[in-house]
Amino acid sequence: MDAQPDEADMPGEARDGPVDEVVDEEVDWAAYYRYTAGRAPRALFDRALAAWAVTGREPGRAVEVGFGDGTETAGWRVLAIDAQQAAADALVARVPAADRPRLEIAVASAETVDLPAADLVYSGFSLPYLGPERLAVLWARVAAALAPGGLIVVNLFGDRDDHAGEPDLAFLDRVAVERLLDGLEIVDLDEHEEDAGSFRGPKHWHLFDIVARRPPGPVR
Ligand SMILES: C[S@@+](CC[C@H](N)C(=O)[O-])C[C@H]1O[C@@H](n2cnc3c(N)ncnc32)[C@H](O)[C@@H]1O
Repeated sequence: MDAQPDEADMPGEARDGPVDEVVDEEVDWAAYYRYTAGRAPRALFDRALAAWAVTGREPGRAVEVGFGDGTETAGWRVLAIDAQQAAADALVARVPAADRPRLEIAVASAETVDLPAADLVYSGFSLPYLGPERLAVLWARVAAALAPGGLIVVNLFGDRDDHAGEPDLAFLDRVAVERLLDGLEIVDLDEHEEDAGSFRGPKHWHLFDIVARRPPGPVR
């Protein structure tokens, strides 16, 4: 499937999921999960699997941040993190009992979660919702958790996105993205812009799709 942005934006109505203090109460994430249910995996996730496949290694431990409807949360031994209990409920409902032992779910804001050593950290259309400060904390934890040779595959919203300036979300320019990637080997950094649909209607998208690897040895 293609990672069409039109399935990746958030709604702007009052949400009906469980309330916690870390998520904007304007966001109806449960409605978003209903909206995206049945989609195919994001193209970004396919890139993650392809980048891992060339290593020739067996899938190891993964972390997914902001798993949403859970479409990508399969196949690996994974710590799946999302701030919404509604996401966890949707994920548990879709995972076959036989696969459940591979899955650990944390319902929390991602920057507060202890991360295991990870071969893959994947996050599709989720990191911007942490906002700049939580994102910085999470990024440092991810950098420390990535195993040598481990991959980080995420996307971030750019500063020319229509929604740039929305409070509590993170929008980065190219320089800031490159700074985040300092010390990592960039496998693919795809910055792109397009006018396309979203859950809230048509908008201008500015995205960075990132595939990066921790080189062997300590991160610089
Ligand atoms: C736009 S959805 C993306 C879901 C899925 N990855 C996809 O591609 O459709 C963003 C997800 O990030 C989660 N999220 C937002 N803030 C978060 C935070 N601080 N910590 C963890 N997850 C968060 C939301 O609950 C939501 O499930």
